[in-house]
Amino acid sequence: MSRAFEITRTLPEDTTGADLRADVLGGLTAEPKVLPPKWFYDARGSELFDEITTLEAYYPTRAEREILLARAGEIAEATGARTLIELGSGSSDKTRHLLDALPDLHTYLPVDVSESALTQAAQALAEERPGLAVHALIADFTRELDLPGDPPGPRLVAFLGGTLGNLLPAERAGFLRAVRGMLAPGDALLLGTDLVKDPAVLVAAYDDEQGVTAAFDKNVLAVINRELGADFDLDAFDHVAVWDAEREWIEMRLRSREATTVKIPALDLAVDFAAGEEVRTEVSAKFRRDGIAAELAAAGFELARWWTDEGGRFALSLSTVPDAAGNGNAQTV
Ligand code: SAH
Ligand code: TRP
Repeated sequence: MSRAFEITRTLPEDTTGADLRADVLGGLTAEPKVLPPKWFYDARGSELFDEITTLEAYYPTRAEREILLARAGEIAEATGARTLIELGSGSSDKTRHLLDALPDLHTYLPVDVSESALTQAAQALAEERPGLAVHALIADFTRELDLPGDPPGPRLVAFLGGTLGNLLPAERAGFLRAVRGMLAPGDALLLGTDLVKDPAVLVAAYDDEQGVTAAFDKNVLAVINRELGADFDLDAFDHVAVWDAEREWIEMRLRSREATTVKIPALDLAVDFAAGEEVRTEVSAKFRRDGIAAELAAAGFELARWWTDEGGRFALSLSTVPDAAGNGNAQTV
């Protein structure tokens, strides 16, 4: 017998809807060309991402798991969370360490654009944990977030995997303010951020030798082919990962080998690519403690705890929502 979980959709059922069309039209007629990262994650994209997390070169997942395993008890004690809201939850795999440690947890609310990843994860968790109310939300976390059912506090929002770094700085500011808006004094934010380090290590993490990351990057072209009838030849593009030392982010790009024209019938559009022309598909910003503390403060959070893995590669931070008097609720380090 499978236990029921609830699922709520705030994204349109039809991904060829206005959103994808507007993003592709805007992005591929821009100079330089860009595509927003959320379109990587159809069922195949989510599978490929899970494969990335098992690669030797992709250290962030292992490093974040190490911190979660070491600190889950402290997180539980500091937050007393009754509701865990997880943004960009994907497979919810690492989240299990947190769920195991939170004794008062009543509701788990995973939020993701990937319906396949979300449904699989919610189904499995509902079966594993009969006492837990699992309410999955298919939504775009860069849009307004309406939480279904007004879940009980204290609320803990988790945003793991370094996904904050996939937003551009201006988007990050708006996003963090929106998260703050879902919370009240006594609630908290658990944030996983990848840290600045040797560029060779970073580039290797985003350009593995087995080509899994390349396949993941190119999956956005497959999505556009399927949903908008386009004729991208995936073999005619190379995956490129570049470290931008000034902005301290990894930039993922797809580079056209030859000059070519791609037709996108659903947009009534033909897009010219010069030989060697690149489309930026994602940035993955790397952080420092001071920068994160400042971004959190600007959004109305107070950084209360900062933990890294043994190797100092990745950070997990816990931030509180100060009360009206400006006092944080967890002890500040
Ligand atoms: N938290 C997981 C997955 C990280 S990958 C981990 O740490 O391993 C990023 C996840 O965010 C994917 O599951 C993807 O589907 C989701 N995602 C990306 N952009 C999104 C958006 N705009 N709104 C909601 N989910 C998004
Ligand atoms: N949140 C992940 C990160 O920035 C997403 C990611 C990992 C990714 N590998 C990628 C995105 C390769 C595009 C291409 O680490």
